[in-house]
Amino acid sequence: MPEYRLKNKVIWVTGALGLIGKASVEHFLEEGAYVIGTDLLHFTQAAELSELERKFPGRFSLHVSDATDEGQIIGIIEIIKRKFNRLDGLFHNAYTQIWKSLSEASLEDWEFVMKGTLTSTFLVNKYAVSMMKQLGGGSLVNTSSVLGTVPVKNGPVAYGSAKAAVNHLTRMIAVENALFGIRANAIIPGDIKSENHAQAMDNLIGRSGRPEEVAKLAAFLLSDDSSYITGSLYPIDGGFNL
Ligand SMILES: NC(=O)c1ccc[n+]([C@@H]2O[C@H](COP(=O)([O-])OP(=O)(O)OC[C@H]3O[C@@H](n4cnc5c(N)ncnc54)[C@H](O)[C@@H]3O)[C@@H](O)[C@H]2O)c1
Repeated sequence: MPEYRLKNKVIWVTGALGLIGKASVEHFLEEGAYVIGTDLLHFTQAAELSELERKFPGRFSLHVSDATDEGQIIGIIEIIKRKFNRLDGLFHNAYTQIWKSLSEASLEDWEFVMKGTLTSTFLVNKYAVSMMKQLGGGSLVNTSSVLGTVPVKNGPVAYGSAKAAVNHLTRMIAVENALFGIRANAIIPGDIKSENHAQAMDNLIGRSGRPEEVAKLAAFLLSDDSSYITGSLYPIDGGFNL
């Protein structure tokens, strides 16, 4: 019998229609989880995901929900409560990016990116934690970026700063909630591309990463195999950082 790493765990994935989100939804389902996917976009825009609803009946549902809107997040928590009365894991991927440097970015650009990337992380973690606290614990995984640790010349000032703050926020959440059995970790991807867009990269491994590789790291952090890991930041960047 194969061992299912996420057997019967209830996991919420934000940004579920994105590159990493889609690969993660599929991988978590294959690992035995129940998955609630949320995205700004409707799932009619991702045929692969409607296929997964058919392949894993009763195990996967997708909801249109804005990760920056508190009311919509509360609505998702209500759905999860009604359906499962449990939340074991959160994988937060939704974000906003505008590639503008300090001199190019307007205040509006800055606030837009901060809201989509940092405020969304605050909100979804806040409500996931409130549910996990009542139910004995869980695992939170936030997706950061190498641009939040490496200050690239003329890089995206708001996105890089927001991702740096996501790292610190994740560690603060870990400290605040360890006694409730809640772990919080962040993944720090380098350049991740689908098979079709894979390319040679200036890192130790020499190529871009695949979304499935990020999904596997997230599954490990969401599973009980990582039960002694909290407050950690995991680069997955082919050694770009070194
Ligand atoms: N792909 C990479 O190379 C890379 C590198 C470093 C970090 N990351 C991080 O990985 C995560 C996922 O990236 P990706 O490449 O899969 O991105 P993507 O653009 O393919 O997907 C992001 C998804 O999030 C959704 N989304 C955006 N704002 C939202 C909101 N407010 N509420 C709900 N959904 C929202 C989008 O509709 C989209 O489906 C992001 O946090 C990103 O910063 C990606």
